[in-house]
Amino acid sequence: MSTSTRLQAMKPTDVGVPGPTSWDMARAFRSVRADPISFLADVAEQYGDLVSFPVPGPPALLANDPADVRHVLQTSARHWGKQTVQYAALARVTGPGLLASSEPSWIEHRRLAAPAFHHERLAAVGEQVRAAADAAVVGRLGRVTSPELVDVAALTHRIGLDSVGRALFSADLSGQAQWLLDATSEAATLVVRLGRSVLPTATWAPTPTNVRLRSTRRRLDASCADLVAQRRRRAGASAAAPHGDDLLGLLLDSGLSDAEVRDELVTMVIAGHETVAAALAWTLMLLAEDQPAQERVRAELAAHPGPVPLLGHRESLPWTRAVVDEALRLYPPAWVVSRRSTRADVVGGRVVPPGTLVIVSPWLVHRRSDAWPDPSAFRPDRFLGAGATVPAYLPFGQGPRLCIGREFALGEMVVVLSRVLTAYRLDVPPGWTRPVPEAKVAVHPRGGMPLVVTPLDTGRA
Ligand code: HEM
Repeated sequence: MSTSTRLQAMKPTDVGVPGPTSWDMARAFRSVRADPISFLADVAEQYGDLVSFPVPGPPALLANDPADVRHVLQTSARHWGKQTVQYAALARVTGPGLLASSEPSWIEHRRLAAPAFHHERLAAVGEQVRAAADAAVVGRLGRVTSPELVDVAALTHRIGLDSVGRALFSADLSGQAQWLLDATSEAATLVVRLGRSVLPTATWAPTPTNVRLRSTRRRLDASCADLVAQRRRRAGASAAAPHGDDLLGLLLDSGLSDAEVRDELVTMVIAGHETVAAALAWTLMLLAEDQPAQERVRAELAAHPGPVPLLGHRESLPWTRAVVDEALRLYPPAWVVSRRSTRADVVGGRVVPPGTLVIVSPWLVHRRSDAWPDPSAFRPDRFLGAGATVPAYLPFGQGPRLCIGREFALGEMVVVLSRVLTAYRLDVPPGWTRPVPEAKVAVHPRGGMPLVVTPLDTGRA
């Protein structure tokens, strides 16, 4: 029998990959919804590196072996698209923006947006990120004069949203743009609910989530249209950047239509704020638990001449950067990515038909004991002297769909750490237990991240 005939005749279970039965899934229903990361960890432990889920139609697999992950996301990426529930839910808010798009136009948009993340432009954005960190730190921690319990997750959320807002629309950050940021953040919460629904709901069905999402989306569209129109009216200020030198200006200069600009703006806000905010909250927690590591960051920052730039930290602040890399290993905010095959392929030695869903969880890959000795320990020295690519490490994805905001995010994290740690010491409160990771758009600490903040006697708080 030819491969294609064999594939035609194949039923889901025929791929011969072990995994939970429908009965197991029904019993685990509540825990899958409440804590999908632990569920994935459990099935990986029980069934191994390739796990099959019982779904009608083409197979749904969890791929956990770094070689299979590389195959799907990188080597064979052109045969694996983003037609999955995860990205379909996202696209209801972002439209076919860069992150959710599976369309051929993706590569064109990526080329158009790329200059916004080039090094020269990011160097300039450093000022905006510093201003966002300053405003939030002064606003929330400026009043702290003695040790105080502070929810640092709320602080990093504000910084994450404000930083991406300033980078996108520096000139318009009051009013409309601020509203857009908050509405987008709300839309992201609705997206998570949709992505988690086990039963697909028709997008027209008047469920409470659909109704709220439609109204949020209408408001988002109106507010984006206003921002774009205002900026177009003011165009012509500079020959090099007629629409201004922030991301909105760049997107408008690149010749995208207004609808496309809207999709990319909303995408950047969704992809760019919760991820960084969550990563920073976990990083601050890991440093509060490990005072020597925290002191070493502070010493490195004290020896650094002048303000911390947004780029080049592997050379200028190697320990601080290693702390960030290790925190992103232990707490990768993007805990799951998914792909669907557009043709037959081979994954983990099994032939899989077109339409196969593959789920990859950076969270699980980062905790493999064969790749990371003592995987649950916080040991930034693993990353000292590491090159740009490290095996079994993909906090920003892998292959052609690698995060476009990677350098921005890493830079933002170092700048914020420097702002907080040069002025404050962080400790865990008495009776400390780590918050439970909660999988939303990013992995957040459930109930916040309460840490004890103590001003240092530097005169900079
Ligand atoms: C710590 C922070 C961040 C993490 C962990 C993160 C993670 C990721 C991951 C894993 C992907 C790949 C998704 C996939 O393969 O399906 C991705 C893509 C993307 N990210 Fe990020 N991200 C972060 C920050 C940002 C920021 C700050 C921005 C923008 C301002 C951004 C914009 C995007 C966009 C537009 C894509 C889609 C790229 C494409 O497919 O061409 N991200 N991100």
